[in-house]
Parts: sequence; structure tokens; C-alpha cells
Amino acid sequence: METLFCKVDPVDPDKKIIEKAGEIIKAGGLVAFPTETVYGLGGDAINPGASEKIYAAKGRPSDNPLIVHIAELDKLEALCKKVPDEMYKLAEVFWPGPLTMIVDKSSLVPGETTGGLDTVAIRMPDHNTALEFIKASGGYIAAPSANTSGRPSPTLASHVRTDLDGRIDMIIDGGEVGIGVESTIVDLSEGEPTILRPGYVTREMLSRVLGRVDIDTTILKGTDKKAPKAPGMKYRHYAPKGSMTLVEGETGAVVKRINEEVAAAKAKGLKCGVLCTLETEADINADVKKCVGSRNDEAAIARSLYRVLREFDEEGAEVIFSESFKTDGFGQAVMNRLLKAAGYNVEKI
Ligand code: TXA
Ligand code: MG
Repeated sequence: METLFCKVDPVDPDKKIIEKAGEIIKAGGLVAFPTETVYGLGGDAINPGASEKIYAAKGRPSDNPLIVHIAELDKLEALCKKVPDEMYKLAEVFWPGPLTMIVDKSSLVPGETTGGLDTVAIRMPDHNTALEFIKASGGYIAAPSANTSGRPSPTLASHVRTDLDGRIDMIIDGGEVGIGVESTIVDLSEGEPTILRPGYVTREMLSRVLGRVDIDTTILKGTDKKAPKAPGMKYRHYAPKGSMTLVEGETGAVVKRINEEVAAAKAKGLKCGVLCTLETEADINADVKKCVGSRNDEAAIARSLYRVLREFDEEGAEVIFSESFKTDGFGQAVMNRLLKAAGYNVEKI
């Protein structure tokens, strides 16, 4: 299939392009589109055939449910068995925005979209192109991140093209995304509200609205015996092709250890990549050195993280070392993605 590639002004997208995208969705096709978090691969959420196509295009296991994206609050009720009060409260504060909420689904949502679960994940993205596209498509867009399953999520349209060209109908290029890691997921379907995937909206921010908010204990651990409740969190994910190790400890000691590791790997003839920061860049020796910004600026690290992981692949890094970051606030989301990219391979010093 030939994939249409259309550039838009992200704030004021060309109406003809949006209309065309809407027609493709209504005919059961797939369109990749920008959001404020990462690019999504959209299909009609209430068309089971479209969801099946999404799984096939990404090579994604079909037990891993999709997020349903809406553009208007009045579309919410039709998706839910009952809209819990907490959902309205959180929507008022955080929507449109990088927050996904899980609730019991209505019969409108096919099992193909929810990976067979009785619950549905819903989010309203904070991005004009995404919102216009959803409206033009009938109001319900199922969209996982628009990457091949297991690879880093796309933060640029060119990333989507690399992974999915020829496998989907259209890519809407709205430039680089703003946040760079996927939305926070909070489960409202049973017991206390629980964060299943950390993101830009932190536990503290949710607690200010809801009071008590729990957190899935598997988020920063790879060895927990319990399976994570978001099926997608159990897969190795976001991974570059080279094998990756995080080094954790005092910054000076981390730099020293990374340089030793690089020297040892180079002696074996391996091409080495290092993910470093403004504070460490000058002292690191590596074949492929990638700086993600200041250690103290999680937002900057998040914005460049997936792009940098893809650049290691493009430049042929066979082994990759990275420093570690703080795990509070938004840092928790950054470390969760890095740990997954490294397959929880951490060297503590
Ligand atoms: O920022 C985002 O959320 C992006 C953009 C495109 O909106 N989307 C995204 O989708 O990250 P995806 O499919 O890559 O990740 C969705 C995650 C998966 O881990 C999936 O298992 C979980 O949400 N999920 C979806 N529905 C669920 C449900 N009913 N119960 C538990 N987990 C669910
Ligand atoms: Mg994903």
C-alpha cells in the first residue's frame, strides 16, 4: 500500500488534509497523527476490523488493549458502562491532556479494541491536529503509539515513516511532539485510583484532585512477581537494537564506570553508544555520544529520549550505556521508559 505523507501546521491544520484523514478512518483505514505525547496510529475505535488492522500494522500482540481518543466530553458517556465521579473531576483538570483513564466499558466498544478486557482506556489529547482529526473521523479514535511493537515510540513523523511506511494509509506530519513520553494511565475501574503507567501527570498532581492515589508496584521493577495491570507494561519496550545498561550512582563515579565499560567493549571491537547529559558530556568517551539535556531538566530529557534511542540504532551502536536519573515527579516516567529500554539491566555502583 502507498502511504500518503501530509505535512500540516500543528496548531491550524489544513482542513482538506483533515477531511481526507477522516474519510480514510470512516472507510476502516489507518492514519498516524501527532499528539502532545507521542505520535499515535489511529483507527476507528468502534470498528473491530480497524483495531485488528492496527495490531497487524504494528506487529502488536492482540491481548494488549488500545487507548480510545476523544475530542469532546459528550462522547464519553457512550464509551463507559458508567462514568465515575473521579473521571469527571480528573477530566475537568487534566483534559485535554496527557492523562488516560481506565473504566468499565460499554457495549459500544468492541473487545478487539480492548484486547478482550471489559474495561476501556480513554484520553483526550491536547493537540489541535489530533482533536480536529478525531472530530472528522466520527469521534472515537483507537490509537497506540505509532511505532513497530517493541521499538521506541515516535516523537517525529519521520520515526513513524521508518516503522510503518507502506503498512498504513496516511501519516500526518505535525512536527516534533511536545512531551515525548506517553500519557499517564490511571485505573479507575476498581479499588483506589491506581497509576499503571507514569507520565507527565504525576501522582502528586492526581492526588491534589482525588486524595489517595496508588501506584502499580511493577513500574520501576523488572523482577516483581506480580504482572503489571496494563498488559503493555509487561513487554520489553522502547528498546534500541544495541544492548543497553543503565549505570546508577554518584555522577562522577558513573562517568568513570561508563568510560571503563566503553573501553572494555571497544577492546572487543564493539561500537559503543552513551546517553549522557550536559553535565557529563565533556568527560564521556564513546563512538556515539548523545546528550539529552541537563540532568535537572526531566522535561528536556523526556523530549529527546526516544529520538536519541532511535539515533543509536541509525548510527549502529551495538552496546549502549546510560546514566540514571531521579525517580520523583516526572522523572519517574523518564526512568520507567529507560529501564524498559534497558530490559531492567542496571549496574549499581
Ligand atoms: O500518550 C499516549 O497514551 C499515546 C498517544 C498516542 O495517545 N498512546 C499510547 O498507546 O501510548 P499504547 O497503546 O502505546 O499504550 C497503551 C497502554 C498499554 O500499556 C496498554 O496495555 C494499556 O495502555 N491499556 C490500554 N487499555 C487498557 C485497559 N483497559 N486496562 C489496562 N491497561 C490498558
Ligand atoms: Mg506504545
